[in-house]
Amino acid sequence: MVEELLSPKRHQWMQDKRVEESDNLVRYVYNQIKNGSGLVDLRRVTKHYVGNVMRRLLFNKRYFGNGSEDCGPGAEELEYVDALFLVVGHLFAFPISDYLPWLWWLDLEGHNKILKEATNTIRKYHDPIIEERIHQWKHGTRTHEEDWLDILISLKDANKNPLLTMEEIKSLILEIAIGTLDNPYNNVEWVLSEILNQQEILQKATEELDNILGRERLLQESEISKLKYAMACLREGFRLHPIIDFNAPHVSMKDTIVADYFIPKGSHILIRRQGIGHNPRVWEEPLKFKPERHLSKNNGCDLTLAEQNFELFTFGAGRRGCPAITLGTTVIVMLFARLIHGFTWIPPPNEPIINLSELESNTMKAKPLIALGKPRLPAKLYHQLD
Ligand code: HEM
Repeated sequence: MVEELLSPKRHQWMQDKRVEESDNLVRYVYNQIKNGSGLVDLRRVTKHYVGNVMRRLLFNKRYFGNGSEDCGPGAEELEYVDALFLVVGHLFAFPISDYLPWLWWLDLEGHNKILKEATNTIRKYHDPIIEERIHQWKHGTRTHEEDWLDILISLKDANKNPLLTMEEIKSLILEIAIGTLDNPYNNVEWVLSEILNQQEILQKATEELDNILGRERLLQESEISKLKYAMACLREGFRLHPIIDFNAPHVSMKDTIVADYFIPKGSHILIRRQGIGHNPRVWEEPLKFKPERHLSKNNGCDLTLAEQNFELFTFGAGRRGCPAITLGTTVIVMLFARLIHGFTWIPPPNEPIINLSELESNTMKAKPLIALGKPRLPAKLYHQLD
């Protein structure tokens, strides 16, 4: 993945597809506001934007089925994204058979059944595309790489034979789809929720965008590094509201020492992300959403979403750390910046202060964020996207 799908060269190669999806995001929100009461379900918007980007990168497709430019995702995408979240939601489920493997066949908690069904739903959309594509490459009706699937099919081993089998490609794509969606949508939904309750922060973030872009054009990816305050807001979101409390579990393969801790071979390692981000020995007023805290060092220069010195846990580290730091950062910043530069947002009349409760079972926001939006750029700019 690191060398073939996520290298800087490939990232650049995929830029047009990501830009189209960032434009589609603005058009979709604009149409929703124009054709409705102005209330927008921002969880739905953020989730589906990330889903759209990933389908474009993987399959060069925005929608599997009946989704449309005006109405957004169709029934197929809703079913697909729900199934992805069902899988992600079971990452930390506790099946007793992880520790007593001979009980596995009883599936006491019913997790195997749930996960099998969810995986089948995801594969129902992926697999026919993958099979058809492999067929096309084999029979010479496709000769040109357009997306990640083409790249995976075209990889060759030292003897010029296909490097990956069909099953390996299907599994890799399943993992990519599962690994992609949760962090970006969750981060942006939380950050927007926090700053809707602290409008002065929203105003500062919007002013930064106005200063860089004016009001006659939209943010482009090449300008992401100019955004300091927006980056600080997103970083603060990761510190305060990581998607799940614990990082994905790992097992140590040999005895090792990390800082002062001896970790014997075979230990299950569970790193608590909130424990790091909320540590009062590191962060003053740790439960307060305060982007400025990230700007004090070096005047915010070189600020990125990745962790510096493990003061927060965004992408992990080492060989099992996230391989997609650049892509993840691009998707998140474009989503956040285009939403606040393109539209004004206030809480809806029936919830003047956004409820920031977490779900009981994990750290996601309990209620989807609904907000009242209004276009803030000249109308012609939105119409150019049609
Ligand atoms: C801002 C968005 C993202 C964040 C915050 C994020 C965060 C993470 C974290 C914390 C891990 C676990 C690291 C560890 O266990 O030490 C991880 C793993 C992973 N991420 Fe991301 N991720 C993001 C976006 C993406 C995207 C867009 C992709 C798609 C290519 C992706 C693919 C993966 C994969 C494949 C792994 C598993 C790596 C392995 O087990 O070796 N991530 N990510």
